[in-house]
Amino acid sequence: MPGGTESRYPSGHVLYRRLNRDFPRIVRGEGCWLTDAGGKRYLDACSGALVANLGHGNAEVARAVGEQAARLAYVNGTAFTHDAVEELAAEVAALAADGLDRTLFLCNGGDAVEAALKISRQFWAESGRPEKRKIVALAPSYHGNTLLALSASARPGYRDVFRDWLVEIHTAPASYPYRCACRGEAEECPACSGAAVEEALLRDGPETVAAFIAEPVGGISTGASVPRPGYWKKVREICDRYEVLFVADEVLSGAGRTGTWSALEPYGTAPDFQIFGKGIAGGYAPLSAMVTSRRILDVLSAGSGAPLHNQTFSQFPVSCAAGLATIRQIKAQGLIARCASMGGVLFQHLAELQGHPHVGDVRGRGLLAGIEFVEDKASRTPFDRSLRMAETLAETAQDAGLVVWPHGGQADGRGGDLILIGPPFIITEDEISELMSRLRMALDATLERIRDRSRR
Ligand SMILES: Cc1ncc(COP(=O)(O)O)c(C=O)c1O
Repeated sequence: MPGGTESRYPSGHVLYRRLNRDFPRIVRGEGCWLTDAGGKRYLDACSGALVANLGHGNAEVARAVGEQAARLAYVNGTAFTHDAVEELAAEVAALAADGLDRTLFLCNGGDAVEAALKISRQFWAESGRPEKRKIVALAPSYHGNTLLALSASARPGYRDVFRDWLVEIHTAPASYPYRCACRGEAEECPACSGAAVEEALLRDGPETVAAFIAEPVGGISTGASVPRPGYWKKVREICDRYEVLFVADEVLSGAGRTGTWSALEPYGTAPDFQIFGKGIAGGYAPLSAMVTSRRILDVLSAGSGAPLHNQTFSQFPVSCAAGLATIRQIKAQGLIARCASMGGVLFQHLAELQGHPHVGDVRGRGLLAGIEFVEDKASRTPFDRSLRMAETLAETAQDAGLVVWPHGGQADGRGGDLILIGPPFIITEDEISELMSRLRMALDATLERIRDRSRR
């Protein structure tokens, strides 16, 4: 009801993202906390959607956004440049992987994924190799909801209805040690070592492949699974051997979330395209970044003269100002180091959950944690998907004033329940203790609820 504390379809005029649940009306955000119109407070344990990395209500970023909007809100990026984009691009170049120092700014992660994939193909076309046009991706994975990004996403729940609109993209199994037959322990395991990427390229004919796209540390699709230390160097070598461009999708794992600016950084290797989104502007404006190198752009410059991907809000000044202010806050407050150290505290607490009879696995890095739940721990059997365990847990947690991000179906495309925990980098130790006690409470209440449901 407009003006009330909660809304639910079909009341009001908003097309809500769920048509069968209540939406509390949030009126304020401060630090790690959200407050609704009824005064109830929620501990935002997933930074919205892994976005609010600085926390809510950062006055410096809000001021920078307001000043930019007042000075210059919009200018057509095809005709003009401006200070905010120039300064932000310089900051991103200094933070991105070696050799990557040219950035196109867009608004959503999926936009930047589309741009990287299209520019990969354009690069080969303008290099005189138009036959290199296919894309190889990992499964499970998620790269966005627009049709090319969705084509590259091995996520059946989102794809099935649109199957005949999607382009064919070949996949290799993602590194997902908990669900792998070897449980992450066999050195030669193709999925866990990265050798599966070579198998996929060879199956497809590497001379026809333009790009390989992957999340360096898993996002929602593998619940923050972390590939082993040698994985990405090996994949980089494979891409080099077959002349395939490597697109690292850091929309979720980048911008400091895993305790380093990019999740790929500790692996000591660089991709051809690096994509940031979500937390890059802390949620103060929509922003994504597709970073690449002169090696790619010089070919376009000598050819058609422009990347064949543009949108009205490319290089949008207000979003760029939000990104610039966010990066400056991250630096001024040492928030990436803080993310790494508070991640250590979070994982110490989460280790205690490992003994829970329905917690199959806990993994992640920095302030990105995935908790996977199972019906039977020994066999890793998921709950019956009809019980919607993960979604029920998120709802129960929200009732208890805790926001977590649920995902279902990752185990075998249909079954599987996990949540992501990814609080703002400014979270304190006391808030982590509070998060854990609310999570335990919500987990007990959820198991009670789904037991009731399965008895019926
Ligand atoms: C790894 C990854 N890539 C791309 C996207 C798409 O980003 P957006 O929803 O901003 O388009 C997401 C969104 O969750 C993501 O997690």
